[in-house]
Amino acid sequence: MKKFTSVSDVENLQEIIKKALQIKKNPLSETEKGKGKTIGLVFLNSSLRTRLSSQIAAQNLGLNVLTLNAAQEAWNLEFADGAVMNGDTVEHIKDAIEVLNQYCDIIAVRCFAGMKSKEDDVNESILSQFEQHAKVPVVSLESATRHPLQSLADCITITENWHFDKLSVNRKPKVVLTWAPHIKPIAHAVGNSFAEWMREMDVELVIANPEGYDLDKNFTKDVKIIHNQDEALKDADFIYVKNWSSFDDYAAMPEVKESWMLTNEKLENTNQAKVMHCLPVRRNVELSDEVMDGENSIIYQQAKNRIFSAQAVFSEILDELS
Ligand code: CP
Repeated sequence: MKKFTSVSDVENLQEIIKKALQIKKNPLSETEKGKGKTIGLVFLNSSLRTRLSSQIAAQNLGLNVLTLNAAQEAWNLEFADGAVMNGDTVEHIKDAIEVLNQYCDIIAVRCFAGMKSKEDDVNESILSQFEQHAKVPVVSLESATRHPLQSLADCITITENWHFDKLSVNRKPKVVLTWAPHIKPIAHAVGNSFAEWMREMDVELVIANPEGYDLDKNFTKDVKIIHNQDEALKDADFIYVKNWSSFDDYAAMPEVKESWMLTNEKLENTNQAKVMHCLPVRRNVELSDEVMDGENSIIYQQAKNRIFSAQAVFSEILDELS
């Protein structure tokens, strides 16, 4: 693997899921693989899971790990080409990336959508600079439009909870990505990415969201979109809960009159659906305490699988470097 910024960087999805599950059984099976090599984890935005799971994964492979919480610890970065830097910005992103090239064998970066300019976000204005200037493989730790390490962990988690290989289960699982309420405009990366990766899995994917909240068609393509949550959840095997703001009226939050928070009552018409969320979650806004803490939740398992998702990807990239 030469880089990892979307599902299209994965040659064989089933193979990398299998590899991640093998790593989960024996996480320290490749402790020599990254010896003498360094990964830089650059965070332009906050993180708990991505930061820690990536660090664990890299350490399990014997990599040296440099973590830079750039927003808090580095110089104020300039992103605009040709900028006259006589204001608040101190270091141009191009120079920062050139320096990271000197220190790192892999550069991983988190760069969220700014949610101000649809054009900048859709065109990945920051990730594209890393892809352009990095001389080493680039890994996305979540960008403006995608969260591929999360999506791979989601595929791993669904695989663990559905017996794809048993002949007795002769149907695809019904997976529902459902919009949930939130108090502020949230980016589309997790929803987009989940749709993109689930389209590559052997599942029946349905997306449920209120009118005005359809995701970018470039990610959902021909996936069925239902604007009634109860109808969409019927007979679901997996429910993925996530908020996102409007894409068409970019970053707006059109009013939603119905209640979309996932509760135990809403699980009643499902096929005892397993509940997923990438975290962090706003309890009793996106989903209720009873769902979060209930027996249907596989949310912490999903968070644990972030380690094996990252480790499988770093391992494949190291294969390319050796
Ligand atoms: N799910 C996820 O990416 O969590 P963090 O934002 O805490 O890294």
